[in-house]
Amino acid sequence: MNTEKLIEEISLTAREAGQIMLEAEDIRHTIKAKSGHANFVTAYDERVQEFLFDRLQKILPGAHFVGEEEGAEVFKPEYEKGYTFCIDPIDGTSNFLTGYRPSVISLALFLDGKNHVSVVYEPYHDLMFTAARGEGAFLNGKKLESSREPLARSLVSFGTSPYDPELMDRSFELCRKILPQCIDLRRSGSAVWDICQVAMGVTGMFFECRLRLWDFAAAALIVEEAGGRITDMEGQPLTMRGPSSVLCVSAGVAGEIRRF
Ligand code: IPD
Ligand code: CA
Ligand code: CA
Repeated sequence: MNTEKLIEEISLTAREAGQIMLEAEDIRHTIKAKSGHANFVTAYDERVQEFLFDRLQKILPGAHFVGEEEGAEVFKPEYEKGYTFCIDPIDGTSNFLTGYRPSVISLALFLDGKNHVSVVYEPYHDLMFTAARGEGAFLNGKKLESSREPLARSLVSFGTSPYDPELMDRSFELCRKILPQCIDLRRSGSAVWDICQVAMGVTGMFFECRLRLWDFAAAALIVEEAGGRITDMEGQPLTMRGPSSVLCVSAGVAGEIRRF
C-alpha cells in the first residue's frame, strides 16, 4: 500500500476510535489501577486499543503490535522486520477521566524497525496530525513547521513522569532551571500532545524525565518532519526501542539547548 493510502486508512481508523472517546460516559466508574502511583486504565483505554488492533490488522495483515494496554514496554527483535504499530490508545488518561483536556490517540507505524508513518488524533476538536518519513508533517492537511523563536520568546512544556515518583525532584529541578530562561512553563497531561505542540510552532520545547515508547513514538516523527529535534536528555538520538527521557526542541531553540 502506498504511503498516502496508508495515512488515509489509518486516519480514518483513528477518527472512528475517537468517536468511542467522544461518546464515553461515566468514565470514573470504569477505572482500574495499574502498577505505580496514580496509574489508571479505564474500560475506554482498553476498548479503544481493541478497536485499533482489530482495524489496523485489517489494513496491514501480519503487522506486529506494541500497545500500552498490552503491557510489553519494549520493541521485540521480531519487530525489526516488516510493519509494527506502536499504539497509545488514549494518551492523557488522567485528563480523559477527569474531563481536563487534551487526550489523544497515538499511532506510530514502523517499517523494518524505523518510524515510517505517524497519526495522532485529538477527537474533541477534530485535530488530525499526520507524518510520513521524508514527506513532512501536517495538521488537518496543512503543513507544520516548528517555531524559529529563541527560548526567551518561547513557552516550554514538561511532563512530571507521574508513574516514576523517584524522578520528581529531578523534574522540578529542571523546571527551576528553565523557567527563568523562557516565557513560562506549561503542563498539559499528554506527552504526545506536548510534542505535537512543538511541531505546530506553539511551544519551543518539551521535556520529560521518563516516557514509554508509545508516549513518543508517533509524535517524534511528526516533530522531526516539522523541523524540530527530539533526543533523550543527554542529547543522544532516541533508540525507539523502549522507555527513555525525552528532550524535544523547535528549530529556533535547537541551537541553544543540546542536552540537559
Ligand atoms: C502519560 C501522559 C503524561 C505523561 C506521562 C505519560 P498516559 O500517558 O503522556 O502527560 O506525563 O509520563 O505516561 O498514561 O496518559 O497514557
Ligand atoms: Ca501515554
Ligand atoms: Ca495511555
